[in-house]
Amino acid sequence: MIYEKILRPLLFKTTDAEFIHGVAAFVLQHSPVLPLLAPWLRADAAPVKLWGLTFRNRLGLAAGFDKEATLVKAFWRLGFGHTEIGTVTRHAQPGNPKPRVFRCPSAAGLVNRMGFPNSGADVIAARLTRLRRAWSQPDYPIGINLGKSKVTELAGAAGDYLYSFKKLHAVGDYFVVNVSSPNTPGLRDLQSVAALRPILSALQTVNRELGEKPLLLKIAPDLNYADIAEILSLTAEQGLHGIVATNTTLDHSAITLTETGGLSGAPVRQKSTAIIKFIARETGGRLPIIGVGGVFTRADLQEKLDAGASLVQLYTGFIYRGPFTVRKVLNG
Ligand SMILES: Cc1cc2nc3c(=O)[nH]c(=O)nc-3n(C[C@H](O)[C@H](O)[C@H](O)COP(=O)(O)O)c2cc1C
Repeated sequence: MIYEKILRPLLFKTTDAEFIHGVAAFVLQHSPVLPLLAPWLRADAAPVKLWGLTFRNRLGLAAGFDKEATLVKAFWRLGFGHTEIGTVTRHAQPGNPKPRVFRCPSAAGLVNRMGFPNSGADVIAARLTRLRRAWSQPDYPIGINLGKSKVTELAGAAGDYLYSFKKLHAVGDYFVVNVSSPNTPGLRDLQSVAALRPILSALQTVNRELGEKPLLLKIAPDLNYADIAEILSLTAEQGLHGIVATNTTLDHSAITLTETGGLSGAPVRQKSTAIIKFIARETGGRLPIIGVGGVFTRADLQEKLDAGASLVQLYTGFIYRGPFTVRKVLNG
């Protein structure tokens, strides 16, 4: 309540949304108060087993907030049941010019065109190795979301993903192949079966050599159902372990803001839920789905679970609902 009634209006007065995200990240990482608050931030929920991993609850942090894997512990303290770091790319890159994150409060949405700013797979692997040595929670899996570096041509995408995957394999609990962010030129073209097959096949070959870990694919909400059906056949052929549905949308019909980029939050909720339902039906409920898109409340979470998701994630909901989001969403 304090966050939504007092703090959020103050924070939203600053037009630079990314600056506020940075301040929030700094506070989450360094504030001595968060460890003390952690017991009150935790939700009552039954643990879930999936892919041989234990999740203390079904709600995780979606990719994009903790791009650098510096907030893994902080989001555990905030009560999340898992976190997905990244997107990580093979090469360090600055992302697109700022400003690149914009709020649409009237639609409970965000538009971003970040373009995967991150320190690259080598640095992030070293950081996670240090974290893993010093700290671990057996019921809080760490997912790693992998993307293609901007400097790498689409034709070289498989090698680029493979490099990051090998570097990070030992330090992640599950992995997500991200071919669905709208802010890297051409990336979404990799969602075609012809482009995806060599990437997934290369990753799965190495995955089996290294000791198979769950490998998932994250898809865009703007794909048509025929394309999704083809992707599902491919994931079955390649033995993938699940789908993350969905990323942000390029459909801006719900907002008046004219900035380009991917739209998240409430405007993507129904589209994402419909896709989850479709995937669950097509796969007879056998392929695990992480449902993401427009989750703000307990009802939104339940909608994703009813549609067939095993786990649910959020990002925009956290910006709008603040530090007690997990409790608010899991316990209503
Ligand atoms: C500012 C911002 C940055 C994001 N960055 C990434 C990213 O790097 N990789 C990714 O797979 N998804 C990224 N996403 C998408 C989210 O993970 C999520 O799929 C999408 O926002 C829908 O969920 P939401 O409505 O709960 O935000 C980002 C979203 C936002 C708002």
